[in-house]
Amino acid sequence: MTRRVGNGIVSVEVPKPTSEDDLPDAAARGSSRTVISPDSQRTVWGDDAPERWVALSSAPATLNEFGALITSAAGVDFAMHEPNLFSSGPDAAFIGSDTGLIPLQMDPPEHARYRRMLDPLFSPKRMAALEASVTDLANRCIDAFIDRGHCNFSEEFGNPFPIGIFLNLLGLPLAGMADFIRMKDDLIRPDSDDAAEADQIRHRAGGEIMTLFSDALIERETEAREDLLTHFLDRERAGDLTREESLNICLLLLLAGLDTVTGTLEVAFALLARRPDLRQALTEPARVSAAVEELLRWIVTSPTQSRIATADTTVDGLEIKAGTLVKIVQATWNFDPTRVANPLEVDLSRTSNQHSSFGVGVHRCLGSHLARLELRVALTEWHRRLPEYWLPEGYEPRYTPSLRGVADLPLEFAANPQPQP
Ligand code: HEM
Repeated sequence: MTRRVGNGIVSVEVPKPTSEDDLPDAAARGSSRTVISPDSQRTVWGDDAPERWVALSSAPATLNEFGALITSAAGVDFAMHEPNLFSSGPDAAFIGSDTGLIPLQMDPPEHARYRRMLDPLFSPKRMAALEASVTDLANRCIDAFIDRGHCNFSEEFGNPFPIGIFLNLLGLPLAGMADFIRMKDDLIRPDSDDAAEADQIRHRAGGEIMTLFSDALIERETEAREDLLTHFLDRERAGDLTREESLNICLLLLLAGLDTVTGTLEVAFALLARRPDLRQALTEPARVSAAVEELLRWIVTSPTQSRIATADTTVDGLEIKAGTLVKIVQATWNFDPTRVANPLEVDLSRTSNQHSSFGVGVHRCLGSHLARLELRVALTEWHRRLPEYWLPEGYEPRYTPSLRGVADLPLEFAANPQPQP
């Protein structure tokens, strides 16, 4: 069975609502609490998601009208390490390409060929070389609102910061940022309740973005640059990639590498604004890397992965037939009390923090070193310049459905405080 679940790297489908709180309407509005919806695009993992994940980490797999749901930490571990049995091919979820996005929707052994090509482009060494420009971008975002005493974190930092880095990486002009944000948002979450109109908006934005990438590749045919697009062009010339594949990869980088960072930053700052006790660690640069890992473990922006069973199999005693859509709530892995001590405690000094937030198995995040750099720099620079901040009185975070973020997060702080040395 193939179901189209819209653009976006993750879709979440879970059993029918069990209480009024779990109704999809609440999810559509956004909620501070977890709202389990039968509609894959509407599940909201709110402030209470960690408690839910602890409970789900030992829950049996279940079947519902959308397919199978694997939640136990052991089930997650098993399914994510069997990419041929639980395929992530395009039949598992439609996220913008009928033939499958590269490498996310490729199964082994084809998948490995692309990862061998792409991994060196996102290696720790290459990402470390971006540190100065990433730091500069973070500070340029903060400069724009530091004198004001408040900001819309999502609009003024959470979105433009990773998008600026992405444009730099691909070699696209920063001047096109506003247009790029509009196209990306239209593609991922078109602003219309009418399904046909939403589809039209999504297709138009998809077309505009592909034209942008395509024109930029054509430009580089006559003028090589030091950027990712030029690298893809070189691989085309060597016969390793077709033009269609280069464009496909660019689209996946956009879908996988922007809202994930934005969502993680939004949820992190919504938490930190309410937890001054945690912020001290972030004013000490040497402690920020460990803090990033713990925040990643706690937040899990991409809590559920979509797969399709390729053969009859059994998980946690549940028989899953070939062709069944499978949702794997991999967030539970981070909250399994049998493998993580005090999983409900945010401990920014936690050592040997092995989490599943970048995925588990062969599809583990290609951009994890970039994401870590972005989060470390964002947290370091922000807390150097703005160590004290809070949520406006009476404000409750509204979590976005499916991919975990906090829409339009407002933050307040003393206008232009003295920066730390
Ligand atoms: C905090 C930020 C991020 C999080 C939490 C995150 C999370 C994930 C997860 C959970 C997966 C596995 C999906 C699956 O198994 O179905 C994944 C895969 C992927 N991510 Fe990320 N990601 C982040 C940032 C990035 C960035 C910055 C990029 C690139 C610019 C990126 C590119 C990718 C790609 C290309 C894949 C597919 C890898 C494959 O299939 O081999 N991600 N990511």
